[in-house]
Amino acid sequence: MKQTKRSLFVCQNCGQENAKWLGRCPSCNSWNSFVEEIRTKTKESKRSSSIATQPVLLSKVPLIDKLRQPTRIKELDQVLGGGIVPGSIILIGGEPGIGKSTLTMQIANNITEEKDKSVLYVSGEESIEQIKLRSERLAVKNENIYLLAENELENILAQIDAIKPSLVIIDSIQAIYSDNLSSSPGSVGQVRECTAEILRRIKREQDVRPSVIIIGHITKFGAIAGPKTLEHIVDVVLYFEGDKFQQYRVLRATKNRFGSTQEIGIFEMSDSGLVGVDSPSLLFISHARAKTTTKTVGSVVIPTIEGTRPILLEVQALAAPSYFNYPQRVTTGLDIRRLAMLLCVLERHCGMNIGNHDIFLNTSGGLKITEPGGDLGVACAIASTYRNKPIASGIAIVGEVSLSGEIRPVVQMKNRINECAKMGFNQIIGPDYTMKKEIKGKANIKTIGITTVSEALEVLGIR
Ligand SMILES: Nc1ncnc2c1ncn2[C@@H]1O[C@H](COP(=O)(O)OP(=O)(O)OP(=O)(O)O)[C@@H](O)[C@H]1O
Ligand SMILES: [Mg+2]
Repeated sequence: MKQTKRSLFVCQNCGQENAKWLGRCPSCNSWNSFVEEIRTKTKESKRSSSIATQPVLLSKVPLIDKLRQPTRIKELDQVLGGGIVPGSIILIGGEPGIGKSTLTMQIANNITEEKDKSVLYVSGEESIEQIKLRSERLAVKNENIYLLAENELENILAQIDAIKPSLVIIDSIQAIYSDNLSSSPGSVGQVRECTAEILRRIKREQDVRPSVIIIGHITKFGAIAGPKTLEHIVDVVLYFEGDKFQQYRVLRATKNRFGSTQEIGIFEMSDSGLVGVDSPSLLFISHARAKTTTKTVGSVVIPTIEGTRPILLEVQALAAPSYFNYPQRVTTGLDIRRLAMLLCVLERHCGMNIGNHDIFLNTSGGLKITEPGGDLGVACAIASTYRNKPIASGIAIVGEVSLSGEIRPVVQMKNRINECAKMGFNQIIGPDYTMKKEIKGKANIKTIGITTVSEALEVLGIR
């Protein structure tokens, strides 16, 4: 074996490589992000064909989907697509203190409920005593959870070989380093190489491969620290989101080789750990919003869809004449360009002289409206505050608004109607076409089909 060494400069933000140091990365434009790394290239002798892997007939490959390991955390299983696939690598990223270590400890506890399963929890950040403290809080009782406070990759791999656990948890990948690389722990090169080495290690195993959960820190821009290539290496990428100061947390998959990326999991942080939220709509609308008799101006409840799950959320709008040359447009939870489009529709098709007004728009709990089905609700909330006329309580509004002011159909109308009925709403206003299709058998909620924005405003009495 022949070894050659060469020095490279790597951008710690995006992974761009260069032979010389640069002040500004030409790829991601970040300043002072290049760090020197020494790469050792090993030229191996050509492998003989006898040890190379052989092709296998697709029909002869055993199906591993049946072997999926449910984590018994309902919300997580839903996001994963049924459970952890054996031999897969899952990357979990999230803000500091959001609950990554808590969630993984709860997974470890649930997996080891089964007799022959064991978990190796590697922490590069906390001492064994600190992990024990957390496990007490989470009431972890099961045996077969091995704790390892270690930072060196080679030692961790040796322990995986010795213990042969069904699941390995690495908390966090930024704290792990390989002795074979000269760069410091947490640098792009270390993070990438350590992940790749773990992948090589578990794919080497022939029969029962351990699954791996890797915790990754995120950068100040919200991406997992380390280059995008890290997300290519792993099978599943999960982001843990939510405000640290609010109780609920949202788990979202941005990549899933074994399931949909549309599903989200909603948790509440309690002193006994993360608890799945069964009825998320209750979190995002003010309490008993449906039944309240006090009418609020500029507030609308929208039945949105996250994956296959309907969630009711409340938007609040506030409009007032502007005293500046450029009226302000401030939104939380809605794309500002979508707002501009809706304002233009209200101005052109509904006769509202709204261009000289400051507009503020909020969604409840900071949840984002990611689908166009929220358009009509937002437009009605703005019209309500502009006209200073309240919208009657118990009404939910849904529909996509086109540039001509017409209402386009939305998907999964049946789910939305059912959720509104379940939460005590007595009327739902939505696209005429989908309403007619789904109207059968919905006796406990009145469905009103409309075709244009002005028709919706007419029905609401805020035209
Ligand atoms: N006794 C408690 N009661 C309620 N919540 C608690 C309690 N102790 C800790 N927490 C919550 O757990 C969170 C910390 O969880 P955890 O350590 O799992 O976060 P983390 O994402 O692993 O953080 P880091 O990135 O720092 O490792 C705290 O922010 C807090 O919200
Ligand atoms: Mg942690």
